Formats: sequence, C-alpha cells, structure tokens
Amino acid sequence: MKSLETMLREGLAAPQKRVPSPLLYDALGSVLFEAITLLPEYGVTRADNRMLQASAREALAAVPGPLELIELGPGHGNKAQLIVRQVLKLQPKVRFIGVDVSAGALEGCRKALSVPGVEFVGVEARFRDALKALPPRPAGHRRVVCFLGSNLSNFDRAESQDFLVRVRAALEPGDALLLTADLDKPKERLLPAYDDALGVTAAFNKNVLVHLNRDWGANFDLTAFVHDARWNAEARRIEMHLRATRPVVARIAKFDLEVKLAVGETLWTESSHRFEVAELEAWGRAAALPLERVSVDTEWPLMVGLFVAR
Ligand code: AVI
Repeated sequence: MKSLETMLREGLAAPQKRVPSPLLYDALGSVLFEAITLLPEYGVTRADNRMLQASAREALAAVPGPLELIELGPGHGNKAQLIVRQVLKLQPKVRFIGVDVSAGALEGCRKALSVPGVEFVGVEARFRDALKALPPRPAGHRRVVCFLGSNLSNFDRAESQDFLVRVRAALEPGDALLLTADLDKPKERLLPAYDDALGVTAAFNKNVLVHLNRDWGANFDLTAFVHDARWNAEARRIEMHLRATRPVVARIAKFDLEVKLAVGETLWTESSHRFEVAELEAWGRAAALPLERVSVDTEWPLMVGLFVAR
C-alpha cells in the first residue's frame, strides 16, 4: 500500500489533483469533524447512534460469547462506549482493542472506556496492518470487529469489497463484523449535509490547506479557494473539492513541487459513497462473510449489519 506521502505527491501531480482524505484529520480537522456530527443537516452520526442504541445489543447477542471487541477507527471512543455498554449487559467483562493511526484518539478512547470490566488495548496502526497482526484472543472468545460511523463511505467501492476480504481474513468461523453504512437517499438531503449553512464543512475541507501549509511546507493561499460539494450520481457519492476562484501557483517545499491551478480547477479532497443493502450483502457473501442481521434507521436511512464469518 502506498504511503500518504506518495499518495499526496502523485495526487498533486495528476490531471485531476487529489489530496488523500486522511489529511483532513489533523488535530483541528478532527475537532471540526466532531462539530460536523452535531450539525442539523448531517444526519449520519445521529442515525448511527440511534442504531447502535436500538439494535446493537440484539445483533451482538446473536454471536455466542464471550466476545472480544475490535473497533477500527474508534476516534475518541463515543461509539465504543455505546457498544461496550451493550456487551457488558451480556458478559461481566470485555477486552476492547482500538485500532487508530492517531495516538491522541487512542488516548481519548482509553479514557472514555476506563470503566469497570473493560480491558483496553490500543493499537496505533493502519487498519490493514493491524488486521494482519492482532494480539491472540482470550481463550474461548469470539471476535467482533466494529466499523462504525459509516466510515466505509470514504473508501472507493473496490476498496470496500477488499476491506471485507481483509476483515474476513482476521476472523475465525463464527466471528463477526458489525458495520454501519449510510444508504442511498435523495441528493436534496445529502448535499446540505456536506455543504451546511454554518460553513463548518467548508472549514473542515479548507483546513486541509492549513495542514499542508504547516506540515508539508506548502504556501496555499486559502482565500483563492471555495468549498465545493458535488453529488456524483453515477458513482453514488458526494465528492468534496476545493475550487480555485483565481489562478493559483503554490509550492510544496517538502516535495520541491510547484502546483498550478487555473480558475475553476479543483483539489479533490474526499469521496463519501452511499450504499444499497443488497450490494453490501453481495460483497459480504463473496468474502465468506454473509450478512445475517440488518436494521435500517427510519429517519435517516443508515443500516447496522452483522456479517458472520463462514
Ligand atoms: C467520516 N466520514 C464517514 C464522514 C462522511 O460523511 O463521509 C466524513 C465527512 N466529510 C464531510 N462531512 C463528513
């Protein structure tokens, strides 16, 4: 897998310039994302929380315990708290492995989970590396890998399918994946979620330039860009771009690279895909990880699904 540095260098030199979306999440970007989750227009996080509260216990109870939980990308542990609470109703103690590239997030998650009955293990790594090298499970336990917050949305569809294969490779028959994924909905509902009236998503998007200027020796002029959220109907995804409103010439000192944008040209910073239950079901089947339970939020269609390893 390419490093972030290679992805950034290649992305800035490509005809459609791209900035890898993990660069959106520096310390300020992570705080801005937390703010997005509170916006009236952004229904994803509230639907995710509703589904975890309403359906996770029932889904987890379907996996014969005791369970070990592994969350990929737990952030500061908000969702982890919900899941752990449900599991502690089914068994007296639980080991929780949090996998995240951010040491700060893992520290936050450790604090959020410092409650009786929880053993927290933080693994600072990328998902695919961590999945290949998970610590041995406690004897007789089943593993449940959790991938929540519709984080799958930010993978391309091919990457999502590959992700399911990699998760399956880390599981034994009878182990499970608990996944939440945001479903197709009219673009009139989706677009405002990525272009909110308060301008928080615009700030989140533009902050990637602040990050590049600070950590990669770039000199982008933020006032030359506007936030541009688009619905790509064919690919069924929101795309976030930063569009140049005047000619831009910027230098990235770290790569000794000059980046030029004409008026209207964009830096593509993120994709956020929408799914159908049937396509996720088909991908699960193909990965020997069939979807065995599914519930969908009625207010903001988002599914929580339990995929059980064959
Ligand atoms: C983290 N991820 C699921 C968010 C999403 O909805 O794709 C990231 C985000 N980008 C802009 N708003 C939210």
